[in-house]
Amino acid sequence: KGQPTFGFTVNWSFSDSITVFTGQCFVDENGKEELRTMWLLRSHVDKIKDDWKATSCAIPYHSAVSMIKEAVSSGSAVSGGTLLCQGDEHPGEKKTSKKKDKATMSCLGESRRHIKPCNLTGWWENDLGSKMQVFKVGKDGTFSGEYHTAVSSTKKPIQLSPLTGSQHLDEDGQCTFGFTVNWKKFSDSTAVFVGQCFNRDDGKEVLHTSWLLREKVGWESDNWKATRDNGDFQGQYLTRVTLSGGCAQISPLRGTQQQIGEEGWPTFAFTVRWDKFSN
Ligand code: BTN
Repeated sequence: KGQPTFGFTVNWSFSDSITVFTGQCFVDENGKEELRTMWLLRSHVDKIKDDWKATSCAIPYHSAVSMIKEAVSSGSAVSGGTLLCQGDEHPGEKKTSKKKDKATMSCLGESRRHIKPCNLTGWWENDLGSKMQVFKVGKDGTFSGEYHTAVSSTKKPIQLSPLTGSQHLDEDGQCTFGFTVNWKKFSDSTAVFVGQCFNRDDGKEVLHTSWLLREKVGWESDNWKATRDNGDFQGQYLTRVTLSGGCAQISPLRGTQQQIGEEGWPTFAFTVRWDKFSN
C-alpha cells in the first residue's frame, strides 16, 4: 500500500544551486523500502534573459526520450510559474484569473520599489491567484511561510498550507531558493518549488519558479502518473539544414505538452526562434 508523499530542499553548501526533491516511499511484500523521487535543480543566472536555462529536472517520462533529445539540444529546462510580490501587507481579496500557472510571482509592494537586493519575505501572488506569505528569512537562509493555492486537484475545500524552504543570497543580492508545501490539511500530495528572485528595471521583484506536484498513489506500478508539472518546457534546437545554406546556430525553443495520459504518450507542440541566423 502507498506510503505518504514527501518533499525536501537541498541547499548545496559548495554551489549557488538549490535542488528540490519530491517523492513517495514504497514498501514491497518483502518489507524492502524504496523512495521514488523526482528533482528540480535551480542554478544561479545573472540576468533575467538567462532564466530559461536556469532549471533542469529529472522526470522519468522525459528521461525516457533523453537520448534523442540530447542529440539535437544541449540540456533541458522546465519553465515554471511567476510569482509577483505583494509587499509585506496582506494583499486582501483580489480578482483572480484562472489562466494556466506561469509559475512566476512579482513584487508590487510600494515599499519594495527602491530596494535592490531581493527579499523573499512578504506576500507573493501568481497568475492563478494563489498567494504565499514568506515569514522572516533566517541568517542561515531557511524560511517558513504559508501558501494559499487558488486551485486544487482535490474536491476537498482548499486550506492554508504550511511551507518551509531555503535560499542562497549572493553578493549581488540575487537569490535562488527552494521550498516544500505540505497540503496535508486537504490533500495527500506534496509540492516542491525551486526558483530565483529577480529585480526588474522598473523596481518590481519577481520570482521565477518551477514546481512539481507529487500525488499519492496506492501502488508502485502507478508511480509513473504521480508527479505533475505544468507541462511547459524550453530547450534549444540545432538544425542540420537551412533554407539559405548559411551557418546555423543553436536556437531557443519553447513548448508545452499535455498532462501524460493513461497511454503515456502526451501530445506536445513547440516553437523555435531562428532569429540568430535567419528571418
Ligand atoms: C492538490 O491539489 O493536491 C494540492 C494543491 C496543489 C496546488 C498546485 S501546486 C502548483 C500549482 N501552483 C499553485 O499555485 N497551485 C498549484
